[in-house]
Parts: sequence; C-alpha cells; structure tokens
Amino acid sequence: METKPLNVGGIGLKGNILLAPLAGFTDYAFRGICLDLGASLSFTEMVSCKGLMYKNENTAILLKTSPAEKVKAAQIFGNDPAIMRAACESEYLAPFDIIDINMGCPVPKLFSNGEGSALLLDIPLAEKIISECRKSGKIITVKFRTGVTADKPVTAEFARACEGAGASMITVHGRPRSAYYSGEVNFKEIAAAKNAVNIPVIGNGGIFTPEDAARMFSLTGCDGVMIARGALHNPYVFSEITEKPFVKDIKGLLFRQINELKKIYPDGWVARNMRKQAACYLKGVKGGKQAKVRILSCDTTDGMKAAIDEVFG
Ligand SMILES: Cc1cc2nc3c(=O)[nH]c(=O)nc-3n(C[C@H](O)[C@H](O)[C@H](O)COP(=O)(O)O)c2cc1C
Repeated sequence: METKPLNVGGIGLKGNILLAPLAGFTDYAFRGICLDLGASLSFTEMVSCKGLMYKNENTAILLKTSPAEKVKAAQIFGNDPAIMRAACESEYLAPFDIIDINMGCPVPKLFSNGEGSALLLDIPLAEKIISECRKSGKIITVKFRTGVTADKPVTAEFARACEGAGASMITVHGRPRSAYYSGEVNFKEIAAAKNAVNIPVIGNGGIFTPEDAARMFSLTGCDGVMIARGALHNPYVFSEITEKPFVKDIKGLLFRQINELKKIYPDGWVARNMRKQAACYLKGVKGGKQAKVRILSCDTTDGMKAAIDEVFG
C-alpha cells in the first residue's frame, strides 16, 4: 500500500502508519521494534500529569526513550489545565517533541475523575487543557473517541475544538466510550472529523491487516492510521502495510525486547513485564504447552529465554 509523509506541527514524518499508546505494552523497546518494522511514530503509554508533578518514580519510569525514536512522543492524561501545562514544561517531558493528550480512555478510574473520555462531555475544559499545554511550546496532539455513548457522537465538534485550541493532529478511535474496545468502528464519524478540520486526522480502531488499513483510508479519507492491538500480536503488520521487506522472527523480537529493557530495568521486572507481550505472540502457536506455562510464570529473564527457545526456537 502506498503510504504518505505526514506533517505534525512542522515535524515531517516519513510515513503515516503510527503505533498507538498502549498501557503496559508500549515501552521504549517495543516502540523501537515497531519503528524498525515500519511505524513512523510511536507514543509512550499514557502517564498521569499529577503523578509526574508529585514526582512519582513509577510514573516517570514510563517515560524512558531510546535513540531509535528520532521523533519522541509522550501521551499524558489529566484534567487540570495548570497541572497539565506544568507537566509539559517539566524536565520529565523535556525530551519529547510531541505531547499527545488522552481524551479517550474509557476506564472508570479515569472517567469518574473527569479524565480521559470524560473530557468528551466538557468541550470548554478540553479546549482549555489543549491551549494551556500549547503554551509550553510543545506540539500538542489529541487522541479521542467518537463520544461517550453511540447515540450522542461529538466527533466533528470535538475535532474542531481541538484544532481551534491549538492541536496539531488528532487521532479518532472510531468507537464511543461505552463500546470500550469491541464492536464496529464508525468510519462515518472519523470521516466527519476529517471533513471538519485542516490538521491531520489519524483513524484508529480495528486495524490488523493491510486490508483493514486500506479500508480505513478509503472510507474516512484520513491522513494516517494508528494501530494498537494489531501491533501487539503482530508487529510485522507495520512492514506488511508499508511493504518493507522482513523475515519473521518472534524469538528474535522477544530476545531483543528483553535485552533492551534489561539495560535499565531490574531482571525480575523485565521478566514479569514481558509475560504479557509473550502471551500476545503465543496466541495460536502450536505445541510446547509446558514451556508456554513457564514463559507466563517466569521470574527471571534467563528462565524466560530458555522457555522461549523451546516454543519459538
Ligand atoms: C491494553 C490496552 C492499553 C491501552 N492503553 C492506551 C493508552 O495508554 N492510551 C490511549 O490513548 N489508548 C490506549 N488504548 C487504546 C488503543 O490505543 C486504541 O485506541 C484501541 O485499542 C483501538 O485500536 P485497535 O483496534 O487498533 O486496538 C489501549 C488499549 C488496550 C487494548
């Protein structure tokens, strides 16, 4: 499929196939892998602005980056414009060129705090957050959903508000909060956002194959696509879409991610963290039942590597 360059607030990206922010998954090592395989931009998982401002180390550690990320993008969440601007101006976000604001997360903990997708219900506050964050001098982008419920879509109105408040790009996940991650993607709503603004619009939701990406482009006219779960199960999806030659080597990917993470994280943390990623790759892989169980319960990376060898070697 022919991919196109993308301009985000003056930063030129070679392509328009993006890796989504994924809590618990998109660490710097996984992001580096997806960038190598053809993604043009990746985001950290969402980090709490309050956590950053209270100097919570567990929050700050999510913001590690690698030299593979030529353009660095972090995703933040919160609902206090002053705190969010302070976070954008803080040392924690200094390495990042682009700050994406999460206005789509459906989880009750955020929603009941007025964060994530709750901001779809308060457009003036969403605008204030974007314009304050913009004052930090950072390029600001926004990721949001079509609405809180399917019967009350706000996509086009929200897209216009984001642009008016200073956002340089928006990503629309074509589902309402009430659908979480399942159900049909509403291509018409993403198209409505595209028709409402002049900044780049990225379509997100349900892209697992090049055909899915082509469908998103043709039904919405979007400027780029963002892939989340499709990348967790098959990071090669970026090569498949961009037609970048590749040799499939899941063991190599797992070993690379483990080795990269071990450079800064303790061994036990890496082993526990990698269980989820390994589980994504194990889906549908035949045989090695005991080794699979071992991978998913490993406390050391040596043990995990031995078990990975058995299954994928
Ligand atoms: C495990 C998981 C973690 C996620 N974490 C984030 C996050 O940190 N920030 C965000 O904006 N969206 C997050 N999302 C939503 C995805 O970025 C994406 O919008 C959604 O999964 C739809 O895309 P997909 O159909 O390609 O998976 C998460 C989704 C999943 C499944």
